[in-house]
Amino acid sequence: MGALFAAGCTPPEAPTFHPIGYAAPSVHAAPFKLQQVDCRPCHGADLAGGAPAGEWPTDVGCDSCHDDGWRQDCTLCHGGDETEGGAPPRDIDGRGGPDGTFAPHTTHVTGTVHAEWDCTQCHVQPEDVLSDGHVLDDTPGRAEVLFDAGQSPQTVWDSVGCSNNACHGDGLSEGQVLLSDAPLTCDGCHPGPESLATDQSDMSGDHLQHTMHGIPCSWCHPNVDPQGEIIDPTTHVDLAPTVGMPESITVDSGHCSGLCHEYQHFSISW
Ligand code: HEC
Ligand code: HEC
Ligand code: HEC
Ligand code: HEC
Ligand code: HEC
Ligand code: HEC
Repeated sequence: MGALFAAGCTPPEAPTFHPIGYAAPSVHAAPFKLQQVDCRPCHGADLAGGAPAGEWPTDVGCDSCHDDGWRQDCTLCHGGDETEGGAPPRDIDGRGGPDGTFAPHTTHVTGTVHAEWDCTQCHVQPEDVLSDGHVLDDTPGRAEVLFDAGQSPQTVWDSVGCSNNACHGDGLSEGQVLLSDAPLTCDGCHPGPESLATDQSDMSGDHLQHTMHGIPCSWCHPNVDPQGEIIDPTTHVDLAPTVGMPESITVDSGHCSGLCHEYQHFSISW
């Protein structure tokens, strides 16, 4: 017997169902996350153990080792690298950084130019590991993308980008964006503060007439400052124009009256 094992190593006292070393998370996590094996027949429908089965009865549950609340710990299996809500880059294969699935998660769930979006913009957001459609669903290892509960439900995701998407539109119609695109600047979806006045000709109403006279966006859009920085991200890319005219202007049914930029408006329509 001794000849089979190196000095200091002893064989297990009884055969175990799992191979030696299965207690290590780097070994047992992937079979669960990718649903290579269904753990529930032996470890219980709720994974808490106590479901003696066949020739391998066991009281061992996942809770035997995991911390309390692990089922609701959104960064145990994915996320945690850049934000705490569970969004990759660290994905269900454990990859992180630019190799992780859908690297622009962070720009979407943190609010720099728009609100801090919930997962619900693009997924059904689970409450815990056992939520319907989450880990133990019919599509092992594949995250479902579903825009139904988001602000742009008609969006199409095809693994290389999003199309038919109002968030990446110009405020008038839907747009598209590819993962391979460079990071978006202010003219990435609609003409921005630095765009040429002539670019504004595609925008609604009298944008061109105003911007060609150098009138900054902030005169009519209080969520940007005179330098063209977004100062209230929660009202930008919410798919409703945020408009607030200078005090000298009154708006009635889309018509402007009053003195502004040295021009008297007599009920001028937009
Ligand atoms: C056919 C029954 C069966 C299935 C299926 C099963 N297990 Fe187990 N598991 C056991 C038994 C029995 C034990 C108690 C120790 C032993 O015999 O290995 C155990 C123990 C464990 C342990 C502790 C191992 C140790 O060395 O302390 C881990 C971790 C574990 N299982 C994870 C999983 C995961 C994750 C899955 C699904 C991917 C799974 N098991 C599927 C029967 C099973
Ligand atoms: C023998 C102890 C032990 C048992 C039993 C056990 N685990 Fe673990 N598991 C760990 C430890 C330790 C970690 C790391 C915890 C941490 O990082 O906070 C872990 C982490 C994990 C992770 C996340 C790791 C990752 O990289 O994604 C998953 C998934 C996981 N376990 C699944 C299971 C499931 C499912 C069961 C029950 C069927 C189970 N474990 C039972 C010890 C165990
Ligand atoms: C703007 C849309 C969007 C938002 C918001 C979003 N996701 Fe995703 N997510 C995606 C896309 C797209 C994928 C890639 C799906 C694919 O592989 O086809 C993905 C994939 C994933 C994956 C799977 C990674 C893998 O390994 O396949 C996880 C986990 C995930 N998201 C979690 C989250 C969580 C948690 C949140 C909220 C904190 C969130 N996501 C918010 C679009 C989004
Ligand atoms: C024990 C591991 C584990 C934990 C803990 C976990 N997830 Fe997941 N999550 C996964 C796996 C695996 C997938 C891929 C699901 C699939 O195969 O369809 C996933 C996918 C997702 C997705 C993509 C949509 C989907 O369901 O496919 C979202 C969003 C998500 N998780 C959010 C969360 C949130 C929020 C929490 C905390 C409440 C959480 N997850 C906790 C393993 C986990
Ligand atoms: C003279 C006032 C005024 C100025 C200056 C102005 N806007 Fe607007 N903008 C409006 C009004 C009014 C609407 C709302 C139109 C509606 O409700 O249909 C609007 C709507 C928009 C929309 C939604 C899409 C559209 O074309 O209606 C975007 C995007 C936009 N503005 C961006 C800008 C940017 C960027 C600047 C600066 C380069 C700017 N605006 C300057 C008045 C202005
Ligand atoms: C991902 C696409 C996208 C990018 C990038 C983007 N915008 Fe917008 N923006 C929109 C959409 C869509 C609207 C239409 C109205 C809305 O949703 O708020 C809009 C509207 C506006 C408006 C009109 C006021 C409002 O919120 O309705 C201004 C001003 C504006 N954007 C300025 C900027 C500036 C400045 C930047 C760069 C910091 C920028 N935008 C980058 C999509 C974008």
